[in-house]
Amino acid sequence: MNSKQNIKKPEGKLGILTPGIGAVSTTFMAGVITVRKGLGQPIGSVSQMGKIRLGKRTENRNPTVKDFVPLASLDDMVFGGWDIFSENAYEAAMKAGVLEKDLLNAIKNDLSQIKPMPAVFNHDFVKNIEGENIKKEPTKMDEAKALMADIKKFKTENNCDRIVMVWCASTEVYTEETDVHQSIEAFEKALEENHPSIAPSMIYAYAAIKSGVAFANGAPNLTVDTPALIELANQLNVPIAGKDFKTGQTLMKTILGPGLKTRLLGIDGWFSTNILGNRDGKVLDDADSFKTKEVSKLSVLDSILEPDLYPELYKEMYHKVRINYYPPKGDDKESWDNIDIFGWLGYKMQIKVNFLCKDSILAAPVVLDLALFMDLAQRADMKGIQEWLSFYFKSPQTKRGLKPIHDIFLQKIKFENTLRHLMGETLINHLGLDYYEE
Ligand SMILES: NC(=O)c1ccc[n+]([C@@H]2O[C@H](COP(=O)([O-])OP(=O)(O)OC[C@H]3O[C@@H](n4cnc5c(N)ncnc54)[C@H](O)[C@@H]3O)[C@@H](O)[C@H]2O)c1
Repeated sequence: MNSKQNIKKPEGKLGILTPGIGAVSTTFMAGVITVRKGLGQPIGSVSQMGKIRLGKRTENRNPTVKDFVPLASLDDMVFGGWDIFSENAYEAAMKAGVLEKDLLNAIKNDLSQIKPMPAVFNHDFVKNIEGENIKKEPTKMDEAKALMADIKKFKTENNCDRIVMVWCASTEVYTEETDVHQSIEAFEKALEENHPSIAPSMIYAYAAIKSGVAFANGAPNLTVDTPALIELANQLNVPIAGKDFKTGQTLMKTILGPGLKTRLLGIDGWFSTNILGNRDGKVLDDADSFKTKEVSKLSVLDSILEPDLYPELYKEMYHKVRINYYPPKGDDKESWDNIDIFGWLGYKMQIKVNFLCKDSILAAPVVLDLALFMDLAQRADMKGIQEWLSFYFKSPQTKRGLKPIHDIFLQKIKFENTLRHLMGETLINHLGLDYYEE
């Protein structure tokens, strides 16, 4: 048995700030408000509905996750955020068109009070949208300071005990690390000098960490995955996590991939295509933003299939991912996967998956769980990269030099064992021998 970790109680209000008040964040906020009023259920949220086995199977101890670990209650959540458009969360949710109008009208009062603060935005990083609710500070360092002032004001005005930030804004163009990302000194100098390699998402992450606010990145942008910001998070004892919410087609890939690999079925090719018509789709229609997403989506299969260990099965696999903007679909994304597999003696077979999904419906519970578990990490003094939350990400952020784990089932074991460890319960690897296990 582990010893139980010292975790501060989740007393008082938890503020959840999202850069981006768009489809995902409003579906999340509206969902929590709806659940609070008893008008819906938090389906897909592991924190709210998941059960966790404790001890031996014969003990029959399976509490709900939220009753096992000390998480903030949904009633104690307060929402806020930033966007380049000044519409409040009700108007933004109506425009996003994910949730039904009747539902949004039933919670209009609560949603209308969530008004986006002016954003830190730079057109070089997100090309296909234009907004008016944007800060006009002279330098990137001034923008960071303005965000820190926003966080402080929000916390005081809403009487919050703690704050977490979850990036729900548009995907930025593909950026690689440069010298300015290598140390916090270089990063801060670059902020002062308005260096072009510092993206808005990095400024939000910097402001969050400097304010002692845990930061989770729901998009594939580099953002907090740089030596400079990792160093700062470790120095200031702040949890960070990323990248890119695991939903839709990649979620299916990390469910199917491990299944095929487990039975040692070979794969010749995996072609994935998507059409979607929301603002996210419009941003991803820009080749540079798509490149960021593509890199995040492509990394998944290699890590699951380990072609270097199984060259006969996966070395020659052709993996292609396409995303096409198609306005009539709105938030109802449609994806097709064509998987060419082979079995015994090389005989060929095919799997076709046509997933008609609602992206934001899949993402909303992920935002909720990340906000709650990042707050838990903060109260448990777990600083730096929270790899145990890989379960929620397409492109999990890991310690430098470590390969991420993409297999959703391995991720779930790591996630649950971290919770058991925090609460002083025995870790379970599901590998006990039947003869001996009780
Ligand atoms: N929906 C999913 O399943 C899913 C899965 C993985 C990742 N994501 C990512 O989550 C993010 C949000 O997705 P969405 O569908 O809500 O998109 P969306 O376009 O509806 O919302 C994003 C919002 O961010 C705003 N924005 C852009 N740059 C900003 C900035 N610098 N500061 C503040 N606001 C800014 C936009 O104006 C927009 O309102 C995207 O990056 C998307 O790629 C979504």
